[in-house]
Amino acid sequence: MRRVLFTFLASLSFASGENGLNGWLRYAPLPDASQHAGSIPATIVALNSSTISPVYTAGLELQAGLKGILGKTVSLSHQSSTEASSIIVGTVDAYTKAYGRPRGVPKLDEEGFWLNTKGNTIQILGQNERAALYGAFEYLSSIAQGSFKPTAYATNPNAPIRWVNQWDNLDDSGTHGSVERGYGGPSIFFDKGHVVQNMTRASQYARLLASIRVNAVVVNNVNANATLLSAENIEGIGRIADAFRPYGVQLGISLNFASPETFGGLPTADPLETSVISFWTNVTTQIYRRIPDMAGYLVKANSEGQPGPLQYNRTLADGANLFARAVKPHGGILMFRAFVYDQLNYTDWKADRANAAVDFFKDLDGKFDDNVVVQIKYGPIDFQVREPVSPLFSHMKKTSTAVELQVAQEYLGQQNHLVYLPPLWKTILDFDLRVDGKKSLVRDIISSERFNRPLGGSAAVVNVGTNNTWLGSHLAMSNLYAYGRLAWDPTEDSQDILQDWIRLTFGFDKRVLNVITKMSMESWQAYENYSGNLGIQTLTDILYTHFGPNPASQDNNGWGQWTRADRNTIGMDRTVSNGTGFSGQYPAEVAARYENLETTPDELLLWFHHVKYDYRLQSGKTVIQHFYDAHYEGAATAQTFVPLWESLKGKIDSERYEAVLFRLKYQSGHSIVWRDAINNFYANLSGIPDEAKRVGNYPWRIEAENMTLSGYQVVPVTPFETASKYNAVITTSNTTAGTASSTIKFPSGIYNVAVNYFDLNGGRAQYELHIGDKLIGKWFGNNEDNLGHEPFAYLDGHSATRITFPGIKIQKGETVKIVGVPNGAELAPLDYVSILPHGIVD
Ligand SMILES: *[C@@H]1O[C@H](CO)[C@@H](O)[C@H](O)[C@H]1NC(C)=O
Ligand SMILES: *[C@@H]1O[C@H](CO)[C@@H](O)[C@H](O)[C@H]1NC(C)=O
Ligand SMILES: *[C@@H]1O[C@H](CO)[C@@H](O)[C@H](O)[C@H]1NC(C)=O
Ligand SMILES: *[C@@H]1O[C@H](CO)[C@@H](O)[C@H](O)[C@H]1NC(C)=O
Ligand SMILES: *[C@@H]1O[C@H](CO)[C@@H](O)[C@H](O)[C@H]1NC(C)=O
Ligand SMILES: *[C@@H]1O[C@H](CO)[C@@H](O)[C@H](O)[C@H]1NC(C)=O
Ligand SMILES: *[C@@H]1O[C@H](CO)[C@@H](O)[C@H](O)[C@H]1NC(C)=O
Ligand SMILES: *[C@@H]1O[C@H](CO)[C@@H](O)[C@H](O)[C@H]1NC(C)=O
Ligand SMILES: *[C@@H]1O[C@H](CO)[C@@H](O)[C@H](O)[C@H]1NC(C)=O
Ligand SMILES: *[C@@H]1O[C@H](CO)[C@@H](O)[C@H](O)[C@H]1NC(C)=O
Ligand SMILES: *[C@@H]1O[C@H](CO)[C@@H](O)[C@H](O)[C@H]1NC(C)=O
Ligand SMILES: *[C@@H]1O[C@H](CO)[C@@H](O)[C@H](O)[C@H]1NC(C)=O
Repeated sequence: MRRVLFTFLASLSFASGENGLNGWLRYAPLPDASQHAGSIPATIVALNSSTISPVYTAGLELQAGLKGILGKTVSLSHQSSTEASSIIVGTVDAYTKAYGRPRGVPKLDEEGFWLNTKGNTIQILGQNERAALYGAFEYLSSIAQGSFKPTAYATNPNAPIRWVNQWDNLDDSGTHGSVERGYGGPSIFFDKGHVVQNMTRASQYARLLASIRVNAVVVNNVNANATLLSAENIEGIGRIADAFRPYGVQLGISLNFASPETFGGLPTADPLETSVISFWTNVTTQIYRRIPDMAGYLVKANSEGQPGPLQYNRTLADGANLFARAVKPHGGILMFRAFVYDQLNYTDWKADRANAAVDFFKDLDGKFDDNVVVQIKYGPIDFQVREPVSPLFSHMKKTSTAVELQVAQEYLGQQNHLVYLPPLWKTILDFDLRVDGKKSLVRDIISSERFNRPLGGSAAVVNVGTNNTWLGSHLAMSNLYAYGRLAWDPTEDSQDILQDWIRLTFGFDKRVLNVITKMSMESWQAYENYSGNLGIQTLTDILYTHFGPNPASQDNNGWGQWTRADRNTIGMDRTVSNGTGFSGQYPAEVAARYENLETTPDELLLWFHHVKYDYRLQSGKTVIQHFYDAHYEGAATAQTFVPLWESLKGKIDSERYEAVLFRLKYQSGHSIVWRDAINNFYANLSGIPDEAKRVGNYPWRIEAENMTLSGYQVVPVTPFETASKYNAVITTSNTTAGTASSTIKFPSGIYNVAVNYFDLNGGRAQYELHIGDKLIGKWFGNNEDNLGHEPFAYLDGHSATRITFPGIKIQKGETVKIVGVPNGAELAPLDYVSILPHGIVD
């Protein structure tokens, strides 16, 4: 009886609904709540009674938080009272009116707040209303982490713009609103061509964002559709703005430059044409009539097929200013993306997409209106695993700028691989561009610090969807959390931020903290190691899904994400002396460092220089041997994540434990797919073998094509390097099962048995693994139900998947047999079986 009761209580300590929906705002009970509950005032005074006020919301959050965390019921009022002990939340102005000037509060910047827990009364005072809500979340975050030390401090944002960009599509009637690069389910805002009626998720999203001080969301894709401007849709986005408003989050929208033509019926979209100007003035007036506090517009023009001012012989600044002037009377901001580039000719050694942003924008500095912010991707190409900082930041001295980051892991495993991004972001934010020979950190350029601009900050592409986990992956939420924290204060430490998130998301267990910290802090480097290193970029398929390996796709096309790999050499020559001249786009000191082979750091070597495969790095290794070693080490690191996570069993609620375990197992298998594909590709291209003889040599594998096949046939895989020994087998019919079997020649013993197969989205084939007369495992090729990444329709590096059965007892001479039952277009494709002795991963 007692035992049963104990188990019941233990399971209660995982609050119900641990499905990720509350993110880091769970307000889970503190283990030693009763010790602290008494010291917290029993009244909250929220100095605004309007239900749309963030101050009002702050009162409700404080009440719910104290109830959840401390089990304490606290009364809430909106009238100032003279009670000796209360929690007072409001603006500094409202406080001053009610109680007189608060003592010790320094002058706050816009959206800054003051938190004072030293006296009997707790003061949470914002420079404005949303800042008061930020303060309330900060206070709750500290008590949720068990920190009750009295403090009094003010904090101010690094920069005013702390936005997120959702790439949600409105326009696909028929389907649920898709999200471009969305891996967490369909849009929370749009459904079948309309704005959703139910605003619950929009409001929950705003709550998460307010707690990390994000102040605006651009809700629709930068590849925008003019239909957004219809009266029905303006009303729809008005409802979204209404849902955001109590959280102090503003709404922004992306515009399609051609709207005057495609939607307004005008013959042109020329930004200097009077009719076009009045079109935008009218539209903007209509929108502000419904959403008086709209944040502004985001525009992607003359980029990747999008229309823009250049087609009317107008400058990009003319284009930006058109919108800026429309929103100006309403206090709005125009975010203008610098992601403008043309298709290039691969045969031109000096052509370089990395040059495009500076080429297009440098002469426009000073030509943008004051409420324009040029939004610059962190690197010159496109959200790669490592890029040098975009040199455009150093050219925009008279223009406000924002850095564009990506929480969506478009090129970084699409939320199926754990990659904690702040260490990558820090390489950008902390970079010193040495403009005019002076300290010029990127984080100071995007704030007003370095060039004294009125606006600036950051925007992150975020792909939350209707999945309860928001991003498809529980662990990926650390990136969203950290984005907000760094947008507010880029000097914060990546690991400190992570650990706050872990405590808030998973609780206090020391082992949980240590394990998630270790995995997360290693994850970016591991991913870089097994995807693309030395600055070569993520060697993914850039023409298709941006997910699995396909290094050949980088070159011989017009996209300019080139590696220029050939039989003897690899890397982009971006020097001024003999290459594309990109290094010369940086201020002199930085340019000199990158121009010179010897002073370019190894991690960016192939970004800047074209070298022989046997060029020796500063580390002493050759380029090619570094490739081989790093890919083995990165994949080895990913293998450790699974047992690390398994050591947390019982310490995390089962729903989140199992969901994370599933993805880490997937990642450990896919990291081997990456490792082998990249290594075999370059071993084949260069003809230089791996000194350690690992590449191309897999003694524990039995290739499917070498097994005895019945109802299965051998097919070559494209690209060749994404199948072991280049071949796979598929069933000969799409209705009848096939079998592949082989006699095991390894000594008797205990083995981990891994099966590599291809899981396509066109069906759910069934597989069985038999050893001797034992059925070892049965599974389905149903990644489409479990992984939210881009569609994967072929046998290649996106669909290649590994499943592992640990601790299998095998007798020499037994038969290993796979039975594959095709389903739909999925012909139970199979690559190999690995029979791995303890400690070997291959
Ligand atoms: C109360 O909140 C409303 C809505 O945000 C705002 O318009 C009003 O100015 C606030 N009142 C005070 C006194 O701050
Ligand atoms: C915009 O949406 C409409 C209506 O759904 C659709 O017909 C049109 O093709 C879309 N245009 C673009 C450029 O996506
Ligand atoms: C709105 O959506 C939430 C979940 O996001 C759901 O719980 C609620 O029942 C829905 N409300 C209506 C009226 O459909
Ligand atoms: C102004 O814009 C609204 C919303 O798009 C549209 O319905 C209306 O017809 C426009 N009026 C004029 C005069 O263009
Ligand atoms: C833009 O200018 C170019 C050359 O100056 C000219 O050939 C072209 O016709 C012009 N295009 C438009 C749309 O005015
Ligand atoms: C690229 O340039 C080469 C050499 O000038 C030329 O032969 C080729 O047609 C060009 N390719 C494209 C796609 O423009
Ligand atoms: C969320 O995604 C997971 C994994 O893709 C899936 O199993 C689950 O059904 C989804 N849940 C919701 C509510 O969409
Ligand atoms: C200089 O550029 C040419 C292409 O124009 C290239 O073939 C050559 O390898 C480069 N030289 C060096 C030293 O990198
Ligand atoms: C990445 O590879 C490098 C070079 O081989 C190695 O030093 C480092 O430990 C690896 N890191 C991870 C996390 O795999
Ligand atoms: C590389 O692969 C090609 C095509 O499969 C093959 O013809 C060639 O012999 C391979 N080269 C090496 C060095 O393995
Ligand atoms: C597997 O089959 C290939 C031919 O497809 C053959 O060259 C190779 O020797 C075989 N390997 C083993 C280990 O039997
Ligand atoms: C199965 O194969 C037959 C014959 O090749 C083909 O007509 C049919 O469309 C296939 N069915 C599916 C579901 O792929």
